[in-house]
Amino acid sequence: MTDQKTEIDRRSFVAGALGAAAGMGGLLAQNAQAQPPEGREIGTTAGGAIPPEMRRPTRLYRLEADVHDCEITGKVPSDLNGAFYRVGPDAQYPLHPRDIPFDGEGHVSMFRIKNGRVDYKSRMVRNERYLANDKAGKQLFPMYRNPSMDDPSAKGLSRSTANTHIINHRNYLLALKEDSPPAAMDLLTLETKVPTYTFDGQLPSKTFTAHPKLDSVTGNMVAFGYEAEGFGSKTVSIFEFTPQGKLVWNAKVQVPYVGMLHDFAVTEKHIVLYVIPLAMDQKQMDSGGPHWSWDNTLPTYFGFVRRGGDGKDVQFIKGPTRSATHIMGTFDDGKKLFVDVEMSMSNPFPFMPMHDGSRWDPVAGSSHITRLTVDLSKKRPSAYDIEQLYPHVGALPRQDDRYNTVAYRYGFLPCPDPEARPGTGGACYARFDHQTRKATLFNAGTESSLAECCFAPRSATAPEGSGYLMGVATRNTEGGRADLVILDAEHLNDGPVATVHLPMRAVGQIHGWWVPEAQLPKA
Ligand SMILES: [Fe+2]
Repeated sequence: MTDQKTEIDRRSFVAGALGAAAGMGGLLAQNAQAQPPEGREIGTTAGGAIPPEMRRPTRLYRLEADVHDCEITGKVPSDLNGAFYRVGPDAQYPLHPRDIPFDGEGHVSMFRIKNGRVDYKSRMVRNERYLANDKAGKQLFPMYRNPSMDDPSAKGLSRSTANTHIINHRNYLLALKEDSPPAAMDLLTLETKVPTYTFDGQLPSKTFTAHPKLDSVTGNMVAFGYEAEGFGSKTVSIFEFTPQGKLVWNAKVQVPYVGMLHDFAVTEKHIVLYVIPLAMDQKQMDSGGPHWSWDNTLPTYFGFVRRGGDGKDVQFIKGPTRSATHIMGTFDDGKKLFVDVEMSMSNPFPFMPMHDGSRWDPVAGSSHITRLTVDLSKKRPSAYDIEQLYPHVGALPRQDDRYNTVAYRYGFLPCPDPEARPGTGGACYARFDHQTRKATLFNAGTESSLAECCFAPRSATAPEGSGYLMGVATRNTEGGRADLVILDAEHLNDGPVATVHLPMRAVGQIHGWWVPEAQLPKA
């Protein structure tokens, strides 16, 4: 009886928490609508079958949509004008049965908000990979970051799915996948303008991160590429572009091992690279599997290097086995370097194989907002401090992006209500005040799932955290129909000021990005 209850609690935890903890609330909610074919296992970890809500959809979606003047409940604030972009994987043709949910061609959607009205538009990213697949009429890239599985006709083409994140740069919307250069799209029509965008040939890397940062003072875009010199390379290239697109800095460093470097941290003086044990697994790829597996025997490395330098000063501090994939915010005070991350004790992704064949652990895989601190007054620090800041379990933290590289006070996180019994408390957005260490919540209820949220300031000069928090709610009892919820970011527990209704499912989302009206081209 005890064992059965434990198992039910674990399942409940998976269903209630890991949509957020695995970092894919909206994406997985969409997947939950798809049923696997009878008797066919569509994805496994080394430890067993993946729960249905964590699987890739087995049916293609690909619905490119235009909804003019969406139905709205409440009132869209008059000072909220711009566009909220989202991107996620949406397989163009079927992928390999063992492929993971992170794979699939990128599908970008946009809520265009202006003068109280909202239009919705979505388009597939028509990059090199999409165009090649389209010409062949089949999937040429069937496995996540494993070129050995590609159709021979795809050799030499960019493998980018462009499905992870989006950011505006030089009047383009860049669709990002960290194993390749971006694709550049039109900000208003979502037409793909440049299938493989290399910053006019200046990109000093074969890859480009999904998480560039905007310098809070200069507006420069600071970014990096890992596996920068080719597949399996230990080289990380770090670089900085002006808003006009001029490369103004580049340094290269070597990491201790090839682990997933999904995000990074940038302060006014430093770059932080955090190497985690989701490590490249050649043997697994040789057997037709995905790029990464979780290797419990590997340590983490907290790497830091001076901004603007030649990279030779880079230091890597060895730490305990942990996972940390996304940054909430970061800063240094001249003496110490602080990096706030979502951190779990072990593999946060149930579909990512365990290297030792062990069973995936949903509790060890759950993430909390955690502060990593390095004492810069020591010439060669030998350790970094790890402090969990809040009890909330969640992933995909965000901040007011105007504070990407400077001290910040407020952070946001999709998470279940930490005071409710696991699986019963509903999907929430939390706002954390690091000064008081208190959180306020918006609870969307138990029948909805929430994708990552995004903050839009009330104006370019509004104080930190003054503005709106928005994100897509998937209504699980309405066939996965989607709403955009818009909240006053300073009063989350008042509920939405406006809810924008779509008549159908929205395409899945990994990340989203807000572009204010002043940064959009005139129609
Ligand atoms: Fe990410």
